[in-house]
Amino acid sequence: MATVPYSIMITGANQGVGLGLVKYLLASNPRPHHVIAASRNLGGEGSKELEELAAKEDCLSVVKLDVTKPDTFAAVVGEVDGIVQENGLNVLINNAGIYLKKGLEDVTVEDMQLAFSTNTIGPLMLTQAFLPLLKQAASRLAAKPLGWQRAVVINFSSRFGSISDNTSGGSYTTRSSKAALNAVTKSLSVDIVKDGIIVCAVHPGWVQTKSGGPNAPISVEQSVQGLMKLFAGLDQNSNGGFFRYDDSDTQLNW
Ligand SMILES: NC(=O)c1ccc[n+]([C@@H]2O[C@H](COP(=O)([O-])OP(=O)(O)OC[C@H]3O[C@@H](n4cnc5c(N)ncnc54)[C@H](OP(=O)(O)O)[C@@H]3O)[C@@H](O)[C@H]2O)c1
Repeated sequence: MATVPYSIMITGANQGVGLGLVKYLLASNPRPHHVIAASRNLGGEGSKELEELAAKEDCLSVVKLDVTKPDTFAAVVGEVDGIVQENGLNVLINNAGIYLKKGLEDVTVEDMQLAFSTNTIGPLMLTQAFLPLLKQAASRLAAKPLGWQRAVVINFSSRFGSISDNTSGGSYTTRSSKAALNAVTKSLSVDIVKDGIIVCAVHPGWVQTKSGGPNAPISVEQSVQGLMKLFAGLDQNSNGGFFRYDDSDTQLNW
């Protein structure tokens, strides 16, 4: 990888694509000064691998974050502020998400609320909370072009969030909450580009993870490799875009 940001925060980083991004960054050369990996469950089996990595790697910090609990975000921002200090935060990756396999017959109000709380409201409110640190990074690097070395917010959407791509129906929770996340992404991209921060949505592919299941065609490593190439190439033309992990030239339709 040619360039990396000074600091990067990834939500839902204890497994799946989030953990894959952490591992890729730790293996990169150069690597970021600060990789901040968030997990909602620290101290348990589910975050063991991440916490073992953090014990070995100076540049990796682990923070506790449940994206459905916005009243805790100010404390998390304070913790991250203490790590990055006057440099601010360059990259926020809203990766945490859930997939509930619910159809018309069995979807419930609670399912819809949990999906929106996790996949849509969490990323929006977390971005709002981190805005001062993102702005700080962007203004310190005002001489740099827009991009991930300066300040970027990346929202993990899904191809399921594309309304025009929906030919098979179903998946009410994921389709609607990710479509709403796309709308959030677009508004953020209009609102904060003036502060030197670009925002985009990505589809990581159908990946072999807890969400993607064992029949998914691509591995975490394949997804992460494509995503990292995409992230490193983000520029002013990427602002407000919706990109596939493997083809940064072709935007997905909303
Ligand atoms: N895999 C795919 O095929 C696919 C396709 C399209 C889009 N995506 C999107 O890509 C992103 C990563 O997916 P993945 O496949 O890596 O999924 P995954 O393996 O299921 O991991 C999801 C991560 O999100 C975390 N998470 C869920 N709810 C959370 C909450 N309330 N607060 C904090 N963290 C929370 C999980 O934490 P726990 O370990 O504690 O559960 C886990 O770390 C998600 O946004 C997903 O919707 C995935």
